[in-house]
Amino acid sequence: MFKLSAKAMIVAMSFGIAGLAHADPITIKFSHVVAEHTPKGQGALLFKQLAEERLAGKVKVEVYPNSSLFGDGKEMEALMLGDVQIIAPSLAKFEHYSKPIQIFDLPFLFDDMAAVDRFQKGPVGQALLTSMEDKGITGLGYWHNGLKQLSANKELLDPKDARGLKFRVQASAVLDEQFKAVRAVPRKMSFSEVYQGLQTGVVNGAENPYSNIYSQKMHEVQKYITESNHGLLDYMVITNTKFWNGLPDDIRTTLSEIMKEVTEEVNKKAAALNERDKQSILDAGTTKILYLTPEQREKWREAMRPVWKKFEGDIGADRIKAAEEANKQ
Ligand code: LMR
Repeated sequence: MFKLSAKAMIVAMSFGIAGLAHADPITIKFSHVVAEHTPKGQGALLFKQLAEERLAGKVKVEVYPNSSLFGDGKEMEALMLGDVQIIAPSLAKFEHYSKPIQIFDLPFLFDDMAAVDRFQKGPVGQALLTSMEDKGITGLGYWHNGLKQLSANKELLDPKDARGLKFRVQASAVLDEQFKAVRAVPRKMSFSEVYQGLQTGVVNGAENPYSNIYSQKMHEVQKYITESNHGLLDYMVITNTKFWNGLPDDIRTTLSEIMKEVTEEVNKKAAALNERDKQSILDAGTTKILYLTPEQREKWREAMRPVWKKFEGDIGADRIKAAEEANKQ
């Protein structure tokens, strides 16, 4: 039989009693792949600050930026296994979990971020947040980064300029097709590898909002950025459904309120952070920013637009229509 010495029993009892008096705080690991001074990085820190202020002693939030805990190839699996409790992958990274979420990758779908906002807040956008609960994933909100710009070591003004160039893409079939549509060569690569990929010439170009370009120093290895605003890079903040539903009601309610506040704050500030980083790129003097005339932009749009048809079945024509409606309001 297992016997405890008197001393061990005293130690065990005192731990037991201490444990009852001060229940351990619930630890929430929030992992992401970008730098802290980006919209997502700032959002994660604000969530930590507010959660630890309002739920002091009850909740502890550990933020892991820059792929320091999980890179974007592994974070979804880690969430499902319970190794991390909150992540915020870009909307391009959900195709294995929800085909309709691919809508956000369609090139030239949204006219501007106000339209994105309307769509995300509308019934179709909101329904997508709960579309993965059968897989154990709950969406808590959409965070903006912003519209993507093309970058390369060559001037990209006409779609023909992209022919034969290798572009890094996120793990998204839509983005793959988008580059094939202009006869470029897409290469899937995780975010943490993009700088090196561009530096060594494994890829020649990429697409990202200014905040990601600047914080990963991509501008140091890209001579040109075309301000194309051709697609969206936003996030869905997600949690493990079982973990979330298993939280004590008062804690879950407070965390939901905090998430709402943080979401508003991130979405209000994301554009300014991208503008700031655009200016920093200009100040660095490494990269020329090119602007498209309306005619040039129309040519890119025409070239990439056939991609929509290829994914209409998976996404749903009604959802695409709702997104187009959001442009008109
Ligand atoms: C990318 O892989 O380019 C982005 O999804 C990274 C991010 O999270 O902003």
